[in-house]
Amino acid sequence: MKIPLADLKKQYLTIKPEIDAAIQNVIENTQFILGKAVSDFEQEFAKAHHVKHCIAVGSGTDALHAALWALDIGAGDAVVTTPFTFIATVEAISLTGAQPLFVDIEPKTYTMDPVKLEELLKSPQGKNVKAILPIHLYGQPAAMDEIQKIASKYNVKIIEDAAQSHLAMYDGKYVGNFGEAACFSFYPGKNLGAYGEAGGIITNDDEFAKKLRQLRDHGQSEKYKHQFWGHNYRMDGIQGAVLGVKLKYLAQWTARRREIAAKYKQAFSGISDLILPYESPKAVHVYHQFVLRTKKRAAFQQYLTDKEIGNALHYPIPIHFQEAYKHLGYKPGDFPISEACANENISIPAHPEMTGEMVDYVIESVMKFFS
Ligand SMILES: Cc1ncc(COP(=O)(O)O)c(C=O)c1O
Repeated sequence: MKIPLADLKKQYLTIKPEIDAAIQNVIENTQFILGKAVSDFEQEFAKAHHVKHCIAVGSGTDALHAALWALDIGAGDAVVTTPFTFIATVEAISLTGAQPLFVDIEPKTYTMDPVKLEELLKSPQGKNVKAILPIHLYGQPAAMDEIQKIASKYNVKIIEDAAQSHLAMYDGKYVGNFGEAACFSFYPGKNLGAYGEAGGIITNDDEFAKKLRQLRDHGQSEKYKHQFWGHNYRMDGIQGAVLGVKLKYLAQWTARRREIAAKYKQAFSGISDLILPYESPKAVHVYHQFVLRTKKRAAFQQYLTDKEIGNALHYPIPIHFQEAYKHLGYKPGDFPISEACANENISIPAHPEMTGEMVDYVIESVMKFFS
């Protein structure tokens, strides 16, 4: 049985009439950039996360870059994140001219280790830090209560990288309620994905939202009046229309992801060669990826591929080992948990379009490999 890691075609077919009509509407209204479809989506997405504002932008990378820029972060400043992420998190810091600084992840949640964060902030290296950029990796929020306490103690801002964690919660609150802002990716394969590039920033701060709206549109306060210079971070109308339709299904799709994850966890709980995804008791994990950790990864990956079970490595090379970030001067052993996870983590299919039969097939296959 062939089981892809995500099935966007199947998802489209379940909502085709609504999607087709929404796209057609944008074309007929010729509101190709921003426009009503985008502003309607912004309102609904903000509401879904219990925040006041959403600013729709061109990608998750745009969202991160714009949010850091709007905090006036630039040359001479530093921003702390983790090296176990997609490179965009770190690029956004570099694009502002600031220096990325890394701390390791926790071995259970794969998110920023607050103990390591505080060690860095109180060291001489921490003196230029203006912001913390925790990543809610795979759909699980970082330890935001502890990170918030540290941020206020050292007087630094928080921007959440929520690219993988639409509707995820921590301490009973949705992501996006823990810092200045949270940044989302609507890359097609994300839990809420557009039909092209798209991203969004959510915030409760009125002034920050106003600044971001201007920054997204070349710093314009009104047409051809530029109070400051910004960039073109605008979202396309068609993406807003698609996202508006798909947002209505997000809670139900997320529940299905969680249901599949629970089945997998129950089935795999006795396998000593596997570390299963841990869900912090304070978190609602949205399982953007269902990630297993095993020292037998190479053989397991080959086995899954032979069985036509989709799989992927998120992420095989931590950022401090990337050629692009050699200049930061980190060395092997600096972030041992990130380095181990890069060697041992593997994602398997857990998307909402999977049938019960598909879930059972994955379970049987994984059990067989480890027996
Ligand atoms: C953790 C993380 N941050 C940032 C991004 C960047 O988002 P985008 O691809 O929409 O620019 C992604 C998405 O790939 C991501 O997974």
